[in-house]
Amino acid sequence: MDALVKRQYGTSDPLRVRIETHLRHSEKQGDLDEVCFELMGLMGPEAILEVGFGRGTFLRYIRQQGHQGRLVGVDQSPTMVAESQAASEGITPEIEWRVGEANALDFPNGCFDWLVARHMLYHVPDIPGALRGFIRVVGPEGRLLFTTNSERSLPLLHALRKEALEALGLPPRQDATSSFTVENAREVLEPAGLNVEEYIGENAFVFTEPEPLVAYIATMEPFLKYVRDSPPLWEKIERWLYQEIERQMGENGGVWRDPKYGGVFLCRPKDSTL
Ligand SMILES: C[S@@+](CC[C@H](N)C(=O)[O-])C[C@H]1O[C@@H](n2cnc3c(N)ncnc32)[C@H](O)[C@@H]1O
Repeated sequence: MDALVKRQYGTSDPLRVRIETHLRHSEKQGDLDEVCFELMGLMGPEAILEVGFGRGTFLRYIRQQGHQGRLVGVDQSPTMVAESQAASEGITPEIEWRVGEANALDFPNGCFDWLVARHMLYHVPDIPGALRGFIRVVGPEGRLLFTTNSERSLPLLHALRKEALEALGLPPRQDATSSFTVENAREVLEPAGLNVEEYIGENAFVFTEPEPLVAYIATMEPFLKYVRDSPPLWEKIERWLYQEIERQMGENGGVWRDPKYGGVFLCRPKDSTL
């Protein structure tokens, strides 16, 4: 497992801040849980495995809609598992939360109707290997749902992060998510033996003050590392960010607007008879 992924998800706070920022500062209101649930068209008894469930909101949402089938979540982060377990106490039928690795799913062949992997495949070092395991656990009649971001998303934010590192003489960041994007999703999924239907959504981040944008940037690498390990350096970066964001907002009528695009990919194994 990648050390950056371990640090990024060792606590749930950075992910919570990012999800809340998307909910509060998106131009169009729209909840990914609702969108995915609608697209899946569940009937009620289906068994669903979610890999990389993060805060566990999607499986809880599915249960809250009255879904009775088996729900299992696997995540590499013991913290995410413990917090999701605590957050679902009292929910029935129970949701099973397990620590596990996408590349080593410990389930019999074909024991799920659906496999869900949202905003996580780009963290997996061996994507073809993981996809073989995903297809194995749903079997030929199963279905899979993936979500990811676009390479074209948030150009202003990416430029700002790059400029901040340059201005303070810090090493450039590595792009951690380019192995699975809206643009290359078909090239990744189809050779693995999947038929793919894609749904692309367009939205934008809109900020009218720097605080929430700086808080969002603080959750992303390498800034998260500086926040945790070098607070004086982070204070310098933070000051630079505030000044630059205020300057850019000033030039744009007090508003920071940055377009973003996301994709949902619904898949069936190519040998499906359905
Ligand atoms: C960006 S979060 C996505 C959370 C959730 N799916 C959502 O849509 O809100 C990525 C999650 O994938 C998990 N993860 C990353 N790599 C993994 C792997 N190889 N195996 C299992 N879980 C992994 C992380 O611990 C984290 O909880």
